[in-house]
Amino acid sequence: MIKSKDMDWLNKIIKQIYSKMEWVSIKSGEKIPATTINGDHDNRRVNQSGQREDGINWWTNGFFAGMMWQMYHDSKEQKYADIASNTEQWLDQAFDEYIGLHHDVGFMWLPSAVAHYRLTGNLTSRKRGLHAANLLAGRFNPVGKFIRAWDGMADHDTTGWAIIDCMLNLPLLYWASDETKDPRFSQIAQMHAETVCKNFIRENGSSEHIVEFDPYKGGKVRIYGGQGYADGSAWTRGQTWALYGLVMSYIHTADNLFLQTAEKSAEYFISNIPENSLIPIDFDQPKEPDYEDSTASAIAACGLLELSKHSENEEIYYDAALRLLKALTEKRCNWSENNDCILENCSPSYHDINHHIGLIYADYFFIEAIFKLKGSDFFIW
Ligand code: GLY
Repeated sequence: MIKSKDMDWLNKIIKQIYSKMEWVSIKSGEKIPATTINGDHDNRRVNQSGQREDGINWWTNGFFAGMMWQMYHDSKEQKYADIASNTEQWLDQAFDEYIGLHHDVGFMWLPSAVAHYRLTGNLTSRKRGLHAANLLAGRFNPVGKFIRAWDGMADHDTTGWAIIDCMLNLPLLYWASDETKDPRFSQIAQMHAETVCKNFIRENGSSEHIVEFDPYKGGKVRIYGGQGYADGSAWTRGQTWALYGLVMSYIHTADNLFLQTAEKSAEYFISNIPENSLIPIDFDQPKEPDYEDSTASAIAACGLLELSKHSENEEIYYDAALRLLKALTEKRCNWSENNDCILENCSPSYHDINHHIGLIYADYFFIEAIFKLKGSDFFIW
């Protein structure tokens, strides 16, 4: 729980979140935003020209609904639930198209449909969640014991590819097992998480982004740096998917391997936080350009706060989360009406042409982390 000396700071941020969400929810209520264009949220609600994978199937399309459910849970204001429900219905088009969906169905339907079901018992939402869970389970490779990440890419055969991001899609499978009383979903999640502990997490606690397995015989073939700086480097958002995802696997299975590996991951992350407490895109990137990624700060804060509830190092993890969030609120929050996103300096990947932009999932995890500090976050993962 938040210490009394930090209460004024926290209350001020919550007030700022409320006033920003008040107008953003109205302005963007008919959209599914992923980023901003000249300060205005973009819209992934429709595929604009033929089959665009960054349209309705885009992996971040559940996060705006997730923000609305967090707001609804905290405020009990129906308007937020209505917007989240609309997003969820629009996402049915992604189920219909199917092509373009991949392992990120967890990110798409946990913060939208499953959140809706958990909060209201809506049975159509439950069906959507179970449908998504079956899609995710269907990506499991039983010989390699991993969930395949992406489908075909023009320049790579991705049949044997698994990526660290999937760790935070696994809670969709844990939820589906709880819901159906069928252990298959959670068995798949647990096997994938064990594969990650063995093949992704390095001796120093850092994580690979992409590991390629032999899809016929199993076994590690090679690694890729993916969205990070280089092969073998430490893409920071990837470190946070590992950290938060492992904590969630521990919460859902009580397997100590996941708690110990989450702690190892957290220790690596904390020991690499720069002096200014702003997180680079990759802990191994060159000094210049000094690219940042605020998404990594927000996701790490969520993971560390959750880990602090289950670990003996409670205070260390809690303090590190607070340090990251305070740096964001002091330096990287935009509360003005000139920009629909809250967090600045988010970066999709090191070698992307876009850096230091707004990204919807940064705002989602920031709000979740702040509500965690308040003790009123809604359990999504
Ligand atoms: N899951 C994709 C990313 O973190 O960019």
